[in-house]
Amino acid sequence: MRIVSIVGARPQFVKAAPICKALRAEHEEVLVHSGQHYDHGMSEVFFEQLGIPAPDYNLAVGSGTHGRMTGEMLPLIEELLSELAPDATIVYGDTNTTLAGALAAAKLGVPLVHVEAGLRSFDRSMPEEVNRVVTDHVSDLLLCPTTTAVANLAAEGVTDGVELVGDVMLDTARFFAETADGGSVLASFGVEAGGYHLATLHRAANSDDPERLASVVRAFSRLELPVLWALHPRTAENLERFGLAAQVEAAGVRVLEPVPYMETIALLRGAAALLTDSGGMQKEAYFFGVPCVTLRDTTEWVETIQSGWNTLVGTDEDAIVAAVRDFVRPAERPEFYGDGHAAVKAVAAMERRYGG
Ligand code: UD1
Repeated sequence: MRIVSIVGARPQFVKAAPICKALRAEHEEVLVHSGQHYDHGMSEVFFEQLGIPAPDYNLAVGSGTHGRMTGEMLPLIEELLSELAPDATIVYGDTNTTLAGALAAAKLGVPLVHVEAGLRSFDRSMPEEVNRVVTDHVSDLLLCPTTTAVANLAAEGVTDGVELVGDVMLDTARFFAETADGGSVLASFGVEAGGYHLATLHRAANSDDPERLASVVRAFSRLELPVLWALHPRTAENLERFGLAAQVEAAGVRVLEPVPYMETIALLRGAAALLTDSGGMQKEAYFFGVPCVTLRDTTEWVETIQSGWNTLVGTDEDAIVAAVRDFVRPAERPEFYGDGHAAVKAVAAMERRYGG
């Protein structure tokens, strides 16, 4: 098979890494980077650490409004797909890059494979939810990470081409957890396992809202352990713009530049708790048995909540503090996300559908 894979944002590099490896064992993969994320710390370093080959094409689209970004990607991807005539195109997750790739492939009649299909937060005000819904409804092969995802698709009448393969992020997390030297990473950050909380925050609904940001900072200042906050560039910019940088410093929060993948996994595994509005990191915390406090009102990863490992608190100061303080470690951590071999299953599903 000849497959075009389209990536562009940080979490997509994590998802593409195991697919890339499994695919290239027997097939041709052409890798396209939209350029949605472009800083070294947001993009290249992930390719280096995850062993992903350099992209064959970089569309260098960069930042912008959602419509502009998606719109600029569309004709560029269309042109490439017309030229390359692949057997199928893969898109990952729920970013604007996912949406642009999905629309370009669907309009050309190139079969579309969606990795991480069927996720729903049921909150259409999230740009990611719109991207997910549209992408799923124009996909030919929908590779689901969980049984919840399969059920979500069925509820929307989507059953053809739906396959449960497990979560590719677990493949990546397991592989690198075995190879990374966590102890030396923690030492390089000057922290000890269990002695700090890790935080990340980048959702538009949080980072673009001064009230919600301020409430999160106040909550961080009240936690017993120090917070290491890996700052997304957008959040860093907004903390300055809203005059909150001094409060962050006064709160005793340690601000970090965007942290590469291996260091993130090591810091996560050593954290007493994760405080985040990331989708992927809620799961990564679950994979490693780290309690998670999710700074959102909804989540796609409902299993992490139902099993007691994750608490949805939004950005209410008291709720954040209480969730960290009152966490009770559940006795069980079921394998909702498969067995860590999702990528091989995903490629097998593609072979069955597009004739190995
Ligand atoms: C995007 C995805 C989100 C994903 C996240 C992972 C969409 C709608 N959102 O959000 O689903 O969870 O990536 O990080 O696609 N910026 C830089 N350098 C970069 C990239 C971005 O400084 O390399 C800054 C720019 O100011 C940019 C802002 O971050 O405007 C937001 O970037 P964008 O790609 O629009 O969205 P994310 O918040 O990263």
